[in-house]
Amino acid sequence: MNLKDMFISFFVSKGHKQIPSAPVVPENDPSVLFNTAGMQPLIPYLMGQAHPYGKRVCDYQKCIRTTDLEEVGDVTHHTYFEMLGNWSLGDYFKKESIEWSFEFLTQCLHIPLERLAVTVFAGNDQIAFDEESYQKWVSLGLKEERIARTREDNFWIAGATGPCGPDTEIFYFRSDDPIPEVFDPEDDRWVEIWNNVFMQYYKDENGKITSLPMKNVDTGMGVERVTSILEGVNDNYLSSIWKDVIDCIVDISETPYAENKKSMRIIADHIRTAIFIAGDPSGILPSNTDQGYILRRLIRRAIRHAKNLNIDINSDWEQEIAHLILKKYQPYYKELVQNESTILEVLKNEKNKFNRTLEKGLREFEKVTRDQKEIDATVAFHLYDTYGFPIELTLELATERGLTVDQDGFQEKFKQHQELSRTASVGKFKGGLAGNSEVETKYHTATHLLNAALKIVVGENVHQRGSNITSERMRFDFNCDHKLTDEEKEKVENLVNEWIGAGLDITVEEMSKEDAINSGAECMFIEKYPDIVTVYSIGDVSKELCGGPHVKNTSELGCFVIKKEEASSAGIRRIKAILK
Ligand code: SER
Repeated sequence: MNLKDMFISFFVSKGHKQIPSAPVVPENDPSVLFNTAGMQPLIPYLMGQAHPYGKRVCDYQKCIRTTDLEEVGDVTHHTYFEMLGNWSLGDYFKKESIEWSFEFLTQCLHIPLERLAVTVFAGNDQIAFDEESYQKWVSLGLKEERIARTREDNFWIAGATGPCGPDTEIFYFRSDDPIPEVFDPEDDRWVEIWNNVFMQYYKDENGKITSLPMKNVDTGMGVERVTSILEGVNDNYLSSIWKDVIDCIVDISETPYAENKKSMRIIADHIRTAIFIAGDPSGILPSNTDQGYILRRLIRRAIRHAKNLNIDINSDWEQEIAHLILKKYQPYYKELVQNESTILEVLKNEKNKFNRTLEKGLREFEKVTRDQKEIDATVAFHLYDTYGFPIELTLELATERGLTVDQDGFQEKFKQHQELSRTASVGKFKGGLAGNSEVETKYHTATHLLNAALKIVVGENVHQRGSNITSERMRFDFNCDHKLTDEEKEKVENLVNEWIGAGLDITVEEMSKEDAINSGAECMFIEKYPDIVTVYSIGDVSKELCGGPHVKNTSELGCFVIKKEEASSAGIRRIKAILK
């Protein structure tokens, strides 16, 4: 059994329900591009909302961190990783959490006690020393010299505000040196393997700490790191997670690993991350903004390093590597099964696109940078605009040659260019939800009412096929085999306005996708939704799977007016409407 399976079955045996990994792109949080920690999708539940799976849950969560993207190539950095976690949502607390961590490490993973050490929260002027955790560790047999009390490192919060609390971190001595009696958290032979956070506080924008409605436990353990520790390798890429992928790259490139480890690690890491982004239910494609840009950068950087290894980049090398990675992860993530062909296509298309310009771009790079010390903004932008070189690639090439790049100048040009070619950013968020302004929120609720009205007036089998909202109007596409008559349009308008006038409350519930479908909730593309979904109901006239946001009561909407009804494509009609 591998680490993921062992972890899940252990916590299931302790009364936890396994919850599915949330998508890598956070839902309803446009402020971050990706989930970076296991607890992120659980924030609402740590804050007090009831979790549909109960009070004890565990999972392995897909995480993507791109801040260290340039570091990938060494023995430990990855852009994608999996975080194991168990949570108590107002159920058990420090005692069980520490006991179970200890039991899992020593009984299931058979880590000898003498290789373990922990830190506990030393206390500050607001929160006391964590005596309970300290005593618990002592009672489990940890020597006092192996329990360090620290302050900053033992208070965990994701970002600046949110649920938080003191934690206790567990360390493993990863070295063949004699194990020191006294644990020094600054000694990097001790590596952190697990973090148990006791989330009982909330920190607001002013730094004020208040108590949460309940005491929670949030733990996190990195799969990549712990797997290599258990397997006794110092290079993560030599653990069972990566070894076959590296071997595959060695075969394709006919180059020994030792000859260019860096390029091989970059290819392995970036292709894996690209697979998880392209295979995510959020439907990200390579582009020049946001998550799509990260996807593009990862694939292009992998291609550049494949070229370094003299791989024939027009061959199917990336497909071969992707197949191997997919096979490994498909048993754990069904979206990778469902989206396999999309993933392979994304990789291939992006490769073909970049291959057309990469060679020329590299030649251009050599030519324009000959005898130069700095790459000026015009050149950097030219490489981006004409040859598709992400600025980071230009930077990487420049660094390899000891050149600098005028990055500020580049950003300036980039901004000007964006302003020129700005297309409305609508459509960025799926489901037609363009932004969260007050008006857009109103239009979003009106969309649900329109959908419900069409079902009554035109037919049960009418479904939403697309939607687009701006602050000026809403646009709604639906399947229908005829042009709506004036009478139909009037009926639809009247119904929507009737519901607005009735002041119906909008309620939101979370449930499993299965329950949602069984309850008859409407949804557009079922496969695009995660396993836990939010369902918005408007009185008893509408029930839809949706990410929100919505108004609280239909009386906030004003007057609904259909401005236009027209054909959109074969069998699809389009309504443009406004709220006055
Ligand atoms: N939130 C904590 C972490 O990410 C424990 O899961 O380390």
